[in-house]
Amino acid sequence: MTKLALLGGTPIRRQLFPLHNTIGLEEKQAALVVLESGNLSQFIGAWGDDFYGGPKVVQFEVAWAKHACTRYAYSVNSNTSGLFAAIGACDIGPGDEVIVAPYTMSASAIAPVIYGAVPVFADVDPRTFCLDPKSIEEKITLRTKAILVVHIFGHPAEMSQINALAKRYNIRVIEDCAQAPASCYHGKPVGGLGDLGVFSLNYHKHIHTGEGGVITTDNETLAEKVALIRNHGEQVVEAKGTQDLINTFGFNFRLTELQAAIGIEQLKKLPSLMQIRRSNSEFLSGQLGLLPGITPPHVAEECVHSYYVQPFLYDADTVGVPRDTFVKALQAELPSSYGREKDSLIGAGYVRPLYLQPIYQHRIGRCAFNCPRYEGSVSYQPGLCPVAERLHFAELFTLEYNRPGMTKSDLQDVVDAFEKVYTHRNDLRRVHE
Ligand SMILES: Cc1ncc(COP(=O)(O)O)c(C=O)c1O
Repeated sequence: MTKLALLGGTPIRRQLFPLHNTIGLEEKQAALVVLESGNLSQFIGAWGDDFYGGPKVVQFEVAWAKHACTRYAYSVNSNTSGLFAAIGACDIGPGDEVIVAPYTMSASAIAPVIYGAVPVFADVDPRTFCLDPKSIEEKITLRTKAILVVHIFGHPAEMSQINALAKRYNIRVIEDCAQAPASCYHGKPVGGLGDLGVFSLNYHKHIHTGEGGVITTDNETLAEKVALIRNHGEQVVEAKGTQDLINTFGFNFRLTELQAAIGIEQLKKLPSLMQIRRSNSEFLSGQLGLLPGITPPHVAEECVHSYYVQPFLYDADTVGVPRDTFVKALQAELPSSYGREKDSLIGAGYVRPLYLQPIYQHRIGRCAFNCPRYEGSVSYQPGLCPVAERLHFAELFTLEYNRPGMTKSDLQDVVDAFEKVYTHRNDLRRVHE
């Protein structure tokens, strides 16, 4: 067992890791009740009681508002559509700019483009990987209408500084809470820290409804606009007596009764699922953090992390081999998961900084980047966000072994693989030389 698997040795483990599955008997029973009722959705795209959906949707939203400690929660069919609705609700349009994060899933940054506005990337903090307030301030212009922060990997962004900037410059704050359903900042859950919060319920997340999302807010005006955008607003405003028509054309972003019934059960399980996820994370952080050059996720003071994945920092000078080679050696020691999860649970970096994607490089989106009303000069040049680039291309790796369903022995295999690769890291020199 001393020869590294990457160099032809026997891997630490061949057995696939368990599939992440949070769905149990409770969800099956809840779904069955809805199926037997025949009422799979009760939304109507017209003003009236059913404009807000059926009983399960409403019950789920009441429960989510309680969880997020916000006055309002509206379910949607994804976080992506929730972000569209949030941007729309903030009256954003052609000529406007929205400050976004570069190191996140692509949906976090694209919503402004749907409304003809321009995403402006600020850099991230090297320890929390969330937007850096200093970089945000450098990017604020007279055109800035909102800051779209992401609580990336589950660590809350530096909200008091971000909210202070928003107040000073009179701009909105939208929180992308997709990866942070149980994160808290200074004693308050995320989702109610800015003007609007948006959660994800897709099947990769801590809890899920297959696809889905929730928008949270304390602001009645924003809540009403979100509801219009979710459900055919153009057809509703007249009968509802809505005076402010900006961005009230609607989509169909509605969640079904079936998904809402599953969501109610999933939300009840969130505390116990998080307890397991945190305990797994602490075990891995404790063990892997003993290896010089590998730094476990930082948790800022008075912050609660949701550990969607565990982001570790990697110092190639200390370890003596480049990160990508080290990660390749680990991947060779450990298989992926069962079924659909064919990818490794170890990632070299996370997502390439978004402005490097073709959509930004070629400025696709007719009335956004190339809008005659846009008087700014946004940059998407390589090198734009040096911290995000450094993290992604050299200094960060992610682990997904912390999720519920992993046994102690699964986690121990991960630790053994790290120790094996670390001990024999000098053998890797010839791989990259
Ligand atoms: C940070 C972040 N934002 C947005 C999304 C999009 O979520 P959804 O699939 O619910 O649209 C994801 C999904 O992975 C995400 O991780």
